[in-house]
Amino acid sequence: MLEAFFEIPNIDFYLVIGILFCFCVLESLYGFLHRTQRNSGDWIQEFGGYVILGLFIKPLIVTVVYYLGYYLFPNSSTFLSGFSFLILLIIYLLIDDILQYTYHRAAHEYPFLWKLHRPHHQAEEMGFFVSYRNALLYYFLMPNIWWVGIFTFIGGGKAVALGLVLKQIIIVSSHSTVKYDEVFYRNKFLKPLIMVWERIFITPVFHHAHHGKTRRDGISNPNGNFGNMFSIWDQLFGTAVFNREFPIDYGLENDPKEHWTESYFHPFIKSKNPNSELSIGYQKNKTSHLEPGMYHLEKGKKYLWCSCGLSKNQPFCDSSHHGTKKLPVLFEGKKDGKVRLCNCKLTKTPPYCDDSHLNKS
Ligand code: FES
Repeated sequence: MLEAFFEIPNIDFYLVIGILFCFCVLESLYGFLHRTQRNSGDWIQEFGGYVILGLFIKPLIVTVVYYLGYYLFPNSSTFLSGFSFLILLIIYLLIDDILQYTYHRAAHEYPFLWKLHRPHHQAEEMGFFVSYRNALLYYFLMPNIWWVGIFTFIGGGKAVALGLVLKQIIIVSSHSTVKYDEVFYRNKFLKPLIMVWERIFITPVFHHAHHGKTRRDGISNPNGNFGNMFSIWDQLFGTAVFNREFPIDYGLENDPKEHWTESYFHPFIKSKNPNSELSIGYQKNKTSHLEPGMYHLEKGKKYLWCSCGLSKNQPFCDSSHHGTKKLPVLFEGKKDGKVRLCNCKLTKTPPYCDDSHLNKS
């Protein structure tokens, strides 16, 4: 599909497969196959998703781009021929990564895309194949794959080939249970290296936090750490959290665990579970009300206050905010006893009531 770099035909393809094979061996040695609780649906979504992406979706999109390119812009195939390989590689990777950051973030903030990306977060264990666990339609809409076709068509094929290999190393390692960065964080001589590296590239600990179940653990950041290859966009747009600890629990809170066909083929197959947001007619309704309430809190315990108004466990977050731009507010009980918490979501001192509800009525 792509031009070879270093003049070795298809070397990009062999390297991508080789990287996966290496992680497969490393994860096996690390005890992953022994520990995993994955069921057949998980394996089908992850391994099957990878095969369909590589053998069907990517070639199809690149073919469509080539076809449209030759039809609409027939003289563009040498557009990049005057640029050096290094410049092309940098341009390809930076544009690819900002596209991916934007798409991934949108997939957490808009309900339609969230439902396509949700299978990725239903994984309760990490592992390199989790990288490929999304709904089928998610990949067809992914701007990066179209970007691969466009950049290749206008003459950047070699840069794309090497760029895909480099991306593969970062993405697969950031999902893997082989946490190479742990060694660096633990060793005082190696730690400065990883502190610089994490400011540029996505590390396993940074991305595992994105897959953590809830911010209540003080480690996870499921509504941030969106980066794919570079962490610079998260830092630039304020979505980065560097906690440098791995979450204990991965996955989604209150996951109704649909059949894999309902997740993978959403919206073409609807869930039969009425509690699933993938079912027909499912709606997230406002559950907040105007009056504040007195709630018993425990000193030192962490709570998440719901800011979106959709939680069924008001005033606390139950993760219904996924697919919106709202984020829960993390706070700690200051003493054992009852506290007046806001339910109208208008307070300027969340989670505490500041009587803003009086102005509303
Ligand atoms: S449910 Fe989490 S912020 Fe509302």
